[in-house]
Amino acid sequence: MSCEEEHPDSAEKAPLRRLSLTELRRRTSAKWREYPPDVLPLWVAEMDVPLPAPVVRAVTEAVRRGDTGYATGEGYAAALDGFARRRWGWNGVVAERTTVVPDVMQGIVEVLKLVTGPGDTVVVNSPVYPPFYSFVQHMDRRVVEAPLGDGHRIDPASLERAFRRAVAGGRRAAHLLCSPHNPTGTVHTRQELAEVAALANTYGVRVVADEIHAPLVLPGAEFVPYLSVPGAERAFALLSASKAWHLAGLKAAVAVAGPGAAEDLRRIPPEVSHGPSHLGVIAHTAALAHCDDWLDGVLAGLDENRRLLAELVRRRLPGIRHRPPQGTYLAWLDCRTGGLGEDPAAVFLERGRVALTDGAGFGTGGAGHVRLNLATSPEVLTEAVERMAAVLGPA
Ligand SMILES: Cc1ncc(COP(=O)(O)O)c(C=O)c1O
Repeated sequence: MSCEEEHPDSAEKAPLRRLSLTELRRRTSAKWREYPPDVLPLWVAEMDVPLPAPVVRAVTEAVRRGDTGYATGEGYAAALDGFARRRWGWNGVVAERTTVVPDVMQGIVEVLKLVTGPGDTVVVNSPVYPPFYSFVQHMDRRVVEAPLGDGHRIDPASLERAFRRAVAGGRRAAHLLCSPHNPTGTVHTRQELAEVAALANTYGVRVVADEIHAPLVLPGAEFVPYLSVPGAERAFALLSASKAWHLAGLKAAVAVAGPGAAEDLRRIPPEVSHGPSHLGVIAHTAALAHCDDWLDGVLAGLDENRRLLAELVRRRLPGIRHRPPQGTYLAWLDCRTGGLGEDPAAVFLERGRVALTDGAGFGTGGAGHVRLNLATSPEVLTEAVERMAAVLGPA
């Protein structure tokens, strides 16, 4: 059943406009509890939406019947397969080449363990999601950066340099690709991904594609699953419903192997299947199977919000540069000429009472930037920009 059938009211079509700040402030998740109540939080990647009705129903019914034991993972890969076929015309989520993992970051760690050893290198495209550094370093791998190039696109020359360094001395290496890219919202094209695959094959680097933001590609761009690209047969992808349906607290994700990586994926130790939450699997499965309409409502709202932000930045935030995202619900603001010093996020927080994510943690290319979460109502977004404008002074 689609969300619309259950909730014929038009509000269901605009999930980003449903909740008031008063309602949102009752939440106890990180977004709402990290800062005092006078701070408007547009930092961590949580969305200001109510959950789609089929997800609420699936989880509520599971709780009612006491279906709260260990996860089997049942249904998740099949629901993802259906979603991938409907939305991306991709039939590469083959059950035998999937495994349910605790969440995307733990899945990345487990997959990286299959193809690299301690001391080996993981290449990332900076600026990138800060846990790409912390998780990789925590598992005793070395991070080598291949910074994004012009227009926040993957730069094949910098990638090749990084790959060459990574495999020097005959070491194994991996490329942790963020697709779509957090924080810039870049959606990599088929040709760009094919170039990544060609380089990875030349240097024997294994690609691990984090595709958590894949359902969140906005009009004008097209998501290309990395494993659908020629040459990507030995790669892995991590997918999850957690970002697109606001389910980060209900943990689960799926690792998918290309045909040439299936043997590797089978080596994932059974302990890993202990991690996913059974309720997480139930929630993610319902989201992927029954909530396309709801997702379309979110995408329409995000498209509207990215246009609103572009306009507000132009009018109200002189000195701040911004390229609207093609995907994700993140906006990456270059504040280096805004006169805010080294740490603009700290200034916006202290003087404007707006919480944004500091760009410095995203590695090379991140300093002097802030990341703003667009997954809110146009009213909250406008208020956040007004507060930022007050910090910057008269336009
Ligand atoms: C690119 C990327 N990967 C992974 C995660 C975290 O996913 P999970 O909570 O499933 O580990 C996020 C969260 O924002 C993300 O943006």
